[in-house]
Amino acid sequence: MLNDKLMINIGFLGAGDIAAVHAAAIKTINDARLAAIADVDPERARLLAGKHGAVVFSDLEALLRSPGLDVLYILTPPEGHARQIIAAAAARIPIVCEKPLTVTLDEADQAIAACKRAGLPLMTGLSHRYHPLAALAKELLQSGELGDFVAAWSHRLIHLPVSPNSWLNDLRVGGGLTLQYAMHDLDWLSWLGGDVAGVSAQEAHTNPELNIEDNLWALLQFRNGGSGNIGLSWSVPSAWTERGLIGSQGNLRIIEQKRLVGRLADGRELAEDLGDDYDWFDVFVRESRDIVRRLQQGQPFSISGDDGRRALEITLAVQKAAKTGKMIHSPLGNDLPLENNS
Ligand SMILES: NC(=O)c1ccc[n+]([C@@H]2O[C@H](COP(=O)([O-])OP(=O)(O)OC[C@H]3O[C@@H](n4cnc5c(N)ncnc54)[C@H](O)[C@@H]3O)[C@@H](O)[C@H]2O)c1
Repeated sequence: MLNDKLMINIGFLGAGDIAAVHAAAIKTINDARLAAIADVDPERARLLAGKHGAVVFSDLEALLRSPGLDVLYILTPPEGHARQIIAAAAARIPIVCEKPLTVTLDEADQAIAACKRAGLPLMTGLSHRYHPLAALAKELLQSGELGDFVAAWSHRLIHLPVSPNSWLNDLRVGGGLTLQYAMHDLDWLSWLGGDVAGVSAQEAHTNPELNIEDNLWALLQFRNGGSGNIGLSWSVPSAWTERGLIGSQGNLRIIEQKRLVGRLADGRELAEDLGDDYDWFDVFVRESRDIVRRLQQGQPFSISGDDGRRALEITLAVQKAAKTGKMIHSPLGNDLPLENNS
């Protein structure tokens, strides 16, 4: 039962870019507060803590010993996620871990098992599911209005200035564009299309300063006979985004993450406009509101560790298909040992 008076105390491991966004989102929620932060860079932790009235701890162990923590958000580079989840599970703290849940499936299995043994909820931060138009597309499909799933796509082209010194440029730490970026698109497609039967993919490396792939195209075959496609770049001068869905009874497009347009077979128009001023920050507010409400009500998180593992399995298969030039068939399984391009 919802207890409106229950304040949820949130701890952060990591005080970088996404931590600042989550902290601002949490600030909009009356019955939650950012209570504690640890970061290997103490200055970063102090800066963020200062803005939000949180207490700084020297490391994860000290953070986990702090009394009264209701949930730990893991907001660090992916390579450390498995160790950090396992440590939080040992301290019996519910966990929200940013995507990717881990960088290998073995690690994901260990992290999920540690949480299940401890009887703790584990959430994967696949935040794109909280976008109102992405969720509306899912609802229209689930309600049967669009008929059976036929195909979906997600194309997101941006210019992202990745520093060659950033962990983003290290495949072993961040998983490259595929784990960092494509995971959201692949998760959305498989949220709509269900079980994946096979994937093929091709990547391109157009920014010579980077060690990682910065363009990716992939094709998914679903068990239900439908198909999915992603087209992504971090290195184009002209940015645009489009997602789309085709059902046997209708189709729709989501343009620039702001407008949904489409039509059903009976002639009804589909139209939802978030307005040109729509700010992606809303997605993170929705995510934290859902997390806080579920903690208060003692309900499981919306996007589980198993969901995170599934997204990871599909994403690693796409990465393997792109790097080997071979189609990967289900069971997708097996991680590819990650190596930088140079
Ligand atoms: N859901 C989304 O849309 C979204 C968007 C951006 C990033 N992310 C994810 O969030 C995570 C963090 O990304 P970011 O962009 O904030 O990175 P970042 O580099 O800006 O911040 C990471 C922070 O973690 C700290 N850190 C590193 N190792 C640590 C450790 N062992 N213990 C404590 N602190 C440690 C660093 O000092 C840094 O402050 C990644 O998994 C990334 O994929 C998700």
